[in-house]
Amino acid sequence: MRKIGILTGGADCPGLNSVIRAVVRKAMQEGFVVTGIKNGWNGLIDNDMKILDLRMTSGILDRGGTILGTSRLKPPLYPEKEAKVVENFRRSGIDAIIAVGGENTLQIGLDLYKKHSIPVVGVPKSIDNALCGTDYAFGFDTAVNVATECIDRLHTTAESHHRIIVIEVMGRYTGWIALEAGIAGGADIILVPEIPIDIEETCALVKARHRRGKNFSLIVVSEGAKIKGTVEPERGQTLIHTPHIGEIIGKCVEEETGYETRVSVLGHIQRGGTPSAYDRLIGTQFGVKAVDLVKESNFGQMVSLHDGQICSVSIAEAVRKHKAIDQALFEIAKLFSD
Ligand code: F6P
Repeated sequence: MRKIGILTGGADCPGLNSVIRAVVRKAMQEGFVVTGIKNGWNGLIDNDMKILDLRMTSGILDRGGTILGTSRLKPPLYPEKEAKVVENFRRSGIDAIIAVGGENTLQIGLDLYKKHSIPVVGVPKSIDNALCGTDYAFGFDTAVNVATECIDRLHTTAESHHRIIVIEVMGRYTGWIALEAGIAGGADIILVPEIPIDIEETCALVKARHRRGKNFSLIVVSEGAKIKGTVEPERGQTLIHTPHIGEIIGKCVEEETGYETRVSVLGHIQRGGTPSAYDRLIGTQFGVKAVDLVKESNFGQMVSLHDGQICSVSIAEAVRKHKAIDQALFEIAKLFSD
């Protein structure tokens, strides 16, 4: 009987358990045994693995986070850790690894596949929806729904107090959450990492709204957005969370417009809790497809959604760069900016 290892790496995200459950179901149907590798790539360093069966993966579909645990460890950065991963993989009897994660987890999988011939299949997870090669990475829909609900709640308080509220959402390199939750929540101004922020223009939009009788405004900003003229972070660079861009924008807008301003940073709330129906559905389809890829020995590939079809793409293509926001959608958002 062949053995599949599954791990979840990087940031946690709603829908991970849907993938694990589907992998176990499909793998068992195909006659594979599934080993859960704990805490991302770390599990292969610590030899922390256990066989997953139907009992262990039942009742987890609607649970946020990951029953396997996760970590941000990148073994290829440390030669001795990388060697341990390879050694323990060989000893484990695992034939192929399904790596569920974002760009870093998938890049590590690709490196291990290329350098050490460890057979790896990827499943795209990203609340930021920042992965290339797929129209969708699971987790994003839940994050957008959570952020939209928060924007709705902040809307009523902004309106009652005649205030500006700046809402900072996640999105280090791409502004998908800000854009989609911003449109769905009726934000007045949306600021994203892809387009440097022009503070004067932002303040002018707020003032224009006031002139036409709208004495409150909601500004949604991605955590990774930058004010025009400031230096972009290197790809993969650790995000320094202080000062939050939301705080900076809030201060500038209050000083420039004179309107009372508050800032709300949504943070990890966007990543926790129950996955949306869509993320459970896509997670389930992705998990099944990942087992198909293993069965076909289609390694170095990532499951992907393309034009409504579940298919696959090379991991190399998926991690090549970040998937920038849809410009046409951004133009639609701008229609509501004054
Ligand atoms: O990559 C997903 C993400 O949630 C980003 O949106 C955010 O910048 C980052 O993870 C936060 O990471 P951590 O949980 O390590 O603070």
